[in-house]
Amino acid sequence: MKIVVLNGSPKGDISVTMQYVAFIRKKFPEHRYEILNVAHDIRKLEKDTEAWNKTIESIRSADMVLWAFPLYYLVVSSQYKRFIELIFERKAQDACAGTYAASLSTSIHFFDQIAHAYIHAVSDDLGMKYLGFYSAEMRDLLSDEERKRLEKFASLLITAVQEKVPVQRENAPLVWPAHTYVPGKEQKSPGTGTKKVVILTDSDGSSPNLAAMTDRLLKNFSGSSEMINLHDVNIKGGCLGCCQCGYDNTCVYTDGYADFFKNKLVPADIIIMAGSVHDRYLSSAWKQFFDRSFFLGHTPALEGRQIGFVIAGPLGQIPSLKEALAAWADNGGCHAQFVTDEVSGSGELDALLDAMAARLVRCAEAGYIPPRTFYAIGGHKVFRDSIYGGLRIAFQADYRYYREHGMFDFPQGDLKTRLFNAVLIPLMRIPGFRKKVFADMKHHMTAPFGQVLRNA
Ligand SMILES: Cc1cc2nc3c(=O)[nH]c(=O)nc-3n(C[C@H](O)[C@H](O)[C@H](O)COP(=O)(O)O)c2cc1C
Repeated sequence: MKIVVLNGSPKGDISVTMQYVAFIRKKFPEHRYEILNVAHDIRKLEKDTEAWNKTIESIRSADMVLWAFPLYYLVVSSQYKRFIELIFERKAQDACAGTYAASLSTSIHFFDQIAHAYIHAVSDDLGMKYLGFYSAEMRDLLSDEERKRLEKFASLLITAVQEKVPVQRENAPLVWPAHTYVPGKEQKSPGTGTKKVVILTDSDGSSPNLAAMTDRLLKNFSGSSEMINLHDVNIKGGCLGCCQCGYDNTCVYTDGYADFFKNKLVPADIIIMAGSVHDRYLSSAWKQFFDRSFFLGHTPALEGRQIGFVIAGPLGQIPSLKEALAAWADNGGCHAQFVTDEVSGSGELDALLDAMAARLVRCAEAGYIPPRTFYAIGGHKVFRDSIYGGLRIAFQADYRYYREHGMFDFPQGDLKTRLFNAVLIPLMRIPGFRKKVFADMKHHMTAPFGQVLRNA
């Protein structure tokens, strides 16, 4: 059997993910493997037709394609994203159609399920027969138990391909909003007061609705507001995953990204992020924007900002994309709102955009950020533990930030709860005491709020 591995790591062969592929290769040497470093070689694949054709012919000859990639900002790297875009742009879907596919990722499990949902949906759109995913924590291969698990996964995968098992498509084809947005003339601008607004778009003329939506929004913000096109920012390339920024937040790139982020986005109170759907995500330009913000590590660099996502395309049919954006905002301590062009007519979209603009200003003036949800609560614990532990050497800037901002909030440090537990847990072993506590559980749970409510 021929297994073509599409390597999504910008690092190429010397990547954590490729160690997992090497392990599979060693355990199943009877198969032929071809590893294509499509993320590392993305510039070449964009420019060199021969290299592109060779890659596509390799995919065409595969019995199975393994999407093998590191997680980058809840999805895949911008370079990998660009490769996927190229398959559609250059109409090479036929090289993938009918072939079995599976995905393998390495990460620290921060939203790994979203990345695999993305690859699953892309595989469905390419007409591939997607068999499932394996999501490894980056150090799993060091554990005997996890090696056995990976071996079982690969064995089951190979058997499924050999037996030509039938596979059901899970993601229905996307249906784009048919309506062309023509903004109305009447508009009551809320102004921005003292708040600073930045509209960030990747508009390249291919989505008239996107351009019309951002124009309408810009008129809404009559105060301090600016529209910036990501294509006009001097960004030389996607994150290379070198992690050198982890030491002191200095990126190895010397382009305009870091200055743009610090001077344009950080001072803003309200940031509109406007883009259109490309395959099952936004564009690779947007992905590049998110990936490059890694120079600030795992710190909430835009904490407290109001974020308005303005999306052209079928966002409502891609729950994993909406979740990725909402989770990114929540995890960063922001407040996210969404408007898309999935509407019945221009009047409705006018009203939605105007209402969002007004709400963003109102929330910014009130300083309102909603309580964090599981995205941020869970995400914080994953980052906190990693930065305190295994990632600390590489991410010393994060470590300093977490320490200075009290973010190493392990429960072991909560002395009051520890004392309470130390006294009450032994008492709970006494049947009579336990019976009394459980009989009055509702009151025990609500008692601490009594004083707050009396004083409110
Ligand atoms: C820019 C960047 C973004 C990342 N984003 C995530 C993420 O969202 N979730 C996660 O669990 N790990 C994330 N990681 C960690 C990598 O997925 C992990 O280190 C991976 O094993 C690297 O694999 P590689 O050496 O094959 O590139 C990120 C790393 C980088 C450099």
